[in-house]
Amino acid sequence: MNETIPQLLSYDDPSLEAAFATLADEVRTETSSQRDAEVFRLRWLGRKQGRLKLISEAWLKSAPAEARKPLGIRFNQLKQQIEAALVAAAAAPPVTSAKAGIDITLPGMVRAPGIPHPLLKTMQEIVSVFHDLGYSTALGPQVETDFYNFEALNFPPNHPARDTQDTLVLANQQAKPSRDRLLMRTHTSPVQIRSMIAQAPPIRIVVPGKVHRNDAADATHSPVFHQVEGLCVDTNITFSDLKGTLDYAMKALFGSGVKTRFFPSFFPFTEPSADVQISCIFCAGMGCRKCKQSGWIELLGCGMVDPAVFASVTEERRKLDPADDAYNPAKVTGFAFGMGVERIAMIQHGISEIGHFYSGDMRFLEQFA
Ligand code: PHE
Repeated sequence: MNETIPQLLSYDDPSLEAAFATLADEVRTETSSQRDAEVFRLRWLGRKQGRLKLISEAWLKSAPAEARKPLGIRFNQLKQQIEAALVAAAAAPPVTSAKAGIDITLPGMVRAPGIPHPLLKTMQEIVSVFHDLGYSTALGPQVETDFYNFEALNFPPNHPARDTQDTLVLANQQAKPSRDRLLMRTHTSPVQIRSMIAQAPPIRIVVPGKVHRNDAADATHSPVFHQVEGLCVDTNITFSDLKGTLDYAMKALFGSGVKTRFFPSFFPFTEPSADVQISCIFCAGMGCRKCKQSGWIELLGCGMVDPAVFASVTEERRKLDPADDAYNPAKVTGFAFGMGVERIAMIQHGISEIGHFYSGDMRFLEQFA
């Protein structure tokens, strides 16, 4: 500490009065600005380098004998002033820095609870409509063999019907027989085959899952998307059962006011096949931009299980039991259907851009909380 010691030029009363008044002022300004009481205490009362000690030593040394007493009294008063300031500082609430303290007036940290993704929510809704009708859930792998994805579903190798499902194949499969080659499943229909091979009729299953196609992404297409497949096989299953089931399901999903209609279509694994349309939920069938002024929205594919599919299933089942006849088309019939989850969720919520589902953007997702 390199403190300057104030000079005392004369020891008469007015000079002492003035000198000590200056010191008292110094103490006062320091107590009002000094943040750390201990620094202040050491500066003034420190035993070796304290200001009080240094000043009193300097002034008493050259003081005439008669000035010693008044000097002593004034130094004592000054010391009392300093000590009183220290007592006051100790009693005052500590001045804490913002860093060290906790500001209890700040809003708390809110941890938002998780919610199901809107796609999963719609998928679950579809599945539970069919659970209510007595269907159970079946699942299958996303990496599938050519046999389950195509061949058993009556898409022969090199058949042009395969071109409708632009397929992503796994590399280095050429050495394998065509039926064993691996690919990303293009639809959930292979689970029909897997389930029928594993289980004799009656069978009622729904199959939610992810599917992959070599499609360029645009507002309504994504190379990875989701489907829910359905399969019902039993004695005396007719096209009316298919119509009644899907009409019920569409009303359960979109409201009891929607109408359905069935248009002839083609799938290799169903015969006859149909595309199902629902009356436009945006304009109640009047015609609007969403339904391209037609009043109808195309929603899913369906049809009666083609006997060729039962034949493939039977061939596989006979590898385990040569007498198996569970899927004899003379005894059982069935229907199947498949729908795109993204498409249904987009219609339910009026979403026009499929990419929102995969963006992870909280501003989009929070709307479903
Ligand atoms: N698997 C077909 C598709 O992805 C949909 C479908 C399923 C059609 C079941 C008929 C029966 O396009």
